[in-house]
Amino acid sequence: MSTVITYAAFGGPDVLQVEQEDVPEPGPGQVVVANRAVGVNPADWKVLAGAFGERELPATLGFEAAGVVTAVGEGVESPEVGDEVIWHGDGAQREHAAVDAAHTVPKPAALTWAQAAVLPVAAASAFSALVQVDVGPQDTVLVHGASGGVGSAAVQIALALGAQVVGTASEANHDYLRGLGAQPVAYGDGLVEAVRGLGGVTAVVDAAGTAESVAATVALLDDVSRAVAVAHSDAAQEAGIAVKRDQKGALAEVVALAESGRLAAEIAERFPLTEAAAALALVQEGHTRGKVVLTV
Ligand SMILES: NC(=O)c1ccc[n+]([C@@H]2O[C@H](COP(=O)([O-])OP(=O)(O)OC[C@H]3O[C@@H](n4cnc5c(N)ncnc54)[C@H](OP(=O)(O)O)[C@@H]3O)[C@@H](O)[C@H]2O)c1
Repeated sequence: MSTVITYAAFGGPDVLQVEQEDVPEPGPGQVVVANRAVGVNPADWKVLAGAFGERELPATLGFEAAGVVTAVGEGVESPEVGDEVIWHGDGAQREHAAVDAAHTVPKPAALTWAQAAVLPVAAASAFSALVQVDVGPQDTVLVHGASGGVGSAAVQIALALGAQVVGTASEANHDYLRGLGAQPVAYGDGLVEAVRGLGGVTAVVDAAGTAESVAATVALLDDVSRAVAVAHSDAAQEAGIAVKRDQKGALAEVVALAESGRLAAEIAERFPLTEAAAALALVQEGHTRGKVVLTV
């Protein structure tokens, strides 16, 4: 048998249940992965709260994981049994997952399970956002929510693309942002003036999605086409700020950046899979630095 976290009703983290299921068989085009680490994202609690609409219940949360291939379905040439992979898809909060082979990429040996598992959602989204607004060495990028999962990846990727970075975070995370190579500014009153005081910015990645972050973006950019919203909000839509579109190959790009040491997530906290509810509650508070991970 194999452990799985399920929910039979929409709600908060307390509706999650720890159950046992049969180890799945791989269907055609699928592989079975014995997960070693599962990334936790705000999308998990939003799905659970019903914010993304109805879905068939019972269901399982989780959009990303890393683990070892234990079985291979018909028609799959790669990966092979024993390969270490990173994957994205639905229902990752389980010990063994049947996954589309096309949704796996090789896990570099240099990456820990936790570092590998958190790349598909936050880091790949950050990469897609930066590419969407064509960030390069000529830019100074403002990252709203720079100490979170998306934001901290966006800071590192923007620096790898040759840009300068200004990042918003609460005071407690300013040394962390300086350590990454960004200039920190506090969100809240005085944000726009503080960014102007640093010389202004030429592009914005918004991983906060607050009325304030949107207003600051509009105030700081001459052209909002150089802003991209990773955190969706009505305010961003009203301001004409484009939402992030997934770029083809983003996961492979961030895996390569991580392998080369230019991208690493701060792992705020690790929880065993069976404590998924506590992990979700922590992420839902909205102030974790970097990523929260479930270990299997
Ligand atoms: N569209 C997509 O494909 C996609 C993909 C990934 C994420 N998202 C969305 O993007 C958003 C960010 O995701 P995430 O994974 O980075 O979340 P996260 O890791 O939970 O973000 C936590 C961070 O947000 C910061 N924060 C909290 N309130 C803030 C505020 N008012 N202004 C600026 N920063 C603030 C916190 O900084 P302090 O602790 O310093 O306050 C903390 O570091 C979420 O809404 C998520 O659903 C969308």
